[in-house]
Formats: sequence, C-alpha cells, structure tokens
Amino acid sequence: MTITNLPEHIAIIMDGNGRWAKKRFLPRNEGHRRGVKALEDIIDYAEEKGIKYLTVYAFSTENWRRPESEVNGLMGLFRRYLDNNIKTAGKKNLRFNVIGDLKSANIPEDIKEKINQLKEITKDKTGICFNMAFNYGGRDEVKRALQKIAQDAKDGKITVEAITEELISGYLDTSHMPDPDLMIRTSGEERTSNFLPWQLAYSEFYFTDCLWPDFTKEEFDKALEVYNTRKRRFGKSE
Ligand code: FPP
Repeated sequence: MTITNLPEHIAIIMDGNGRWAKKRFLPRNEGHRRGVKALEDIIDYAEEKGIKYLTVYAFSTENWRRPESEVNGLMGLFRRYLDNNIKTAGKKNLRFNVIGDLKSANIPEDIKEKINQLKEITKDKTGICFNMAFNYGGRDEVKRALQKIAQDAKDGKITVEAITEELISGYLDTSHMPDPDLMIRTSGEERTSNFLPWQLAYSEFYFTDCLWPDFTKEEFDKALEVYNTRKRRFGKSE
C-alpha cells in the first residue's frame, strides 16, 4: 500500500513485556530488556519513514509501585540507554526529549543528569524527536500546568481571559510539539492509562494484540497502513 498520509507524531504505549517474558518462563526484566531492543529498532525505522516525533510511555508515575527488583531493572535499562546514546549522539541525528515530572526525588540523581546531558547534546539535531515519557502521568502533567498557570495569573503575568486552549497546551510538557496523530497500544489492552489525556483528544487509536517485544517494523507498517485509511474530521462534517 502506498502511504499518502503519514502521521507527523506517533505516541506508543509499549505494553506486554511482562506477558512476553512469562510465556517464555523468563524473568519480567528480560521482557523489558527485549522491549528496549524493539524500541531501538522502531525509533530507527520511524526516522527512516519520515516520522518527526515519537513519544513512548517508558515509565509512569504509577510504575514506582512495582516490585523493587523490577523498578531497579528498569532504571538500569534507562541508564544503559542514556549512556549508549550519549556516546553515539555524534553519529546520529536524533533529538532526545523527556516529558514527565523530572523534579521527583524518586528518580536517581545520575539518571536526571544523564537525561539533561543527552537533551543538551542533541538539542540542535534535525532528525526524529524521540520523546520519552518518564515518571509521566497525564493528570499529574495537567496538575503541574495548572499550578504554573495559577501562579502566573497570581503574579499578574497573564489574565484569566488569556487562558485559552493554546495557552494551556503551551504550559504542558509537550509544548513546542504537535499533538500525536496516531496512538499505538500493544498487547490487546484498549485504554489510554493516563497517557497524554489532553494531547490525544483528536488522535487516531490503533490497538494490536502483538506484545511489545514482538513489535517489529512489519507491525509498525501495519499501523501506518491502518492510519492511512482513517479519515480525520476534527469534529467537522465531510
Ligand atoms: C509495560 O509492560 C511496559 C512497561 C511498564 C515499561 C516499558 C518500558 C520499556 C520498554 C523500556 C523503555 C526503555 C527505554 C530505555 C526508553 P508490562 O510490564 O506492564 O507488561 P505486562 O502488562 O505484560 O505485565
């Protein structure tokens, strides 16, 4: 199929790492490790396809409630991803960004530093923007934006009348990027789980039973093909 309608921004809920591992009698962390591998391939492929923004749900504000060994395993994977990309950034055109509450004391200091370092060294890159949702919760993001808006109103920097949808978008972690055109969730679950509640208002959703570590370029192509057939009306009639 010729793709005539390519999404500019794709958001992904990478679900099913645990089930992938369980099916193979492997530890959950092995599922996450394979999940990172799948993600790295998809970032490269999305860039090749001409996707401008890829936002993935890597770690939610609720994920801290998982067993300590799993949280530590995930932090180890983030560390390794950041270290590898800091080393190879010079050879790539990827721009790295993070959304979520990075001020949280739960996040290990060295990870915060590596995130800032990778953001800084890739800030002028012109390739795909890889946007990692880390310690991210959609309601938490809206709450943080509202706190900033209220503070700015109190300080006389904005009037109440100036609070428009555009202004609210500008206070979110995703300011300076378009809303996702397409949201993909793997593993058969059909919900958005506090991921980008404001930004996904008009997005197309694609759900697949495929577990995240099995999500290959071919699976990505299937999602692009389905998106290509969708007609977006944004509330208007045809
Ligand atoms: C959901 O699967 C997946 C997660 C909570 C973590 C996703 C994280 C990664 C793929 C690693 C990202 C890493 C980098 C470096 C960006 P699940 O564990 O909830 O699976 P289950 O529903 O089958 O138990």
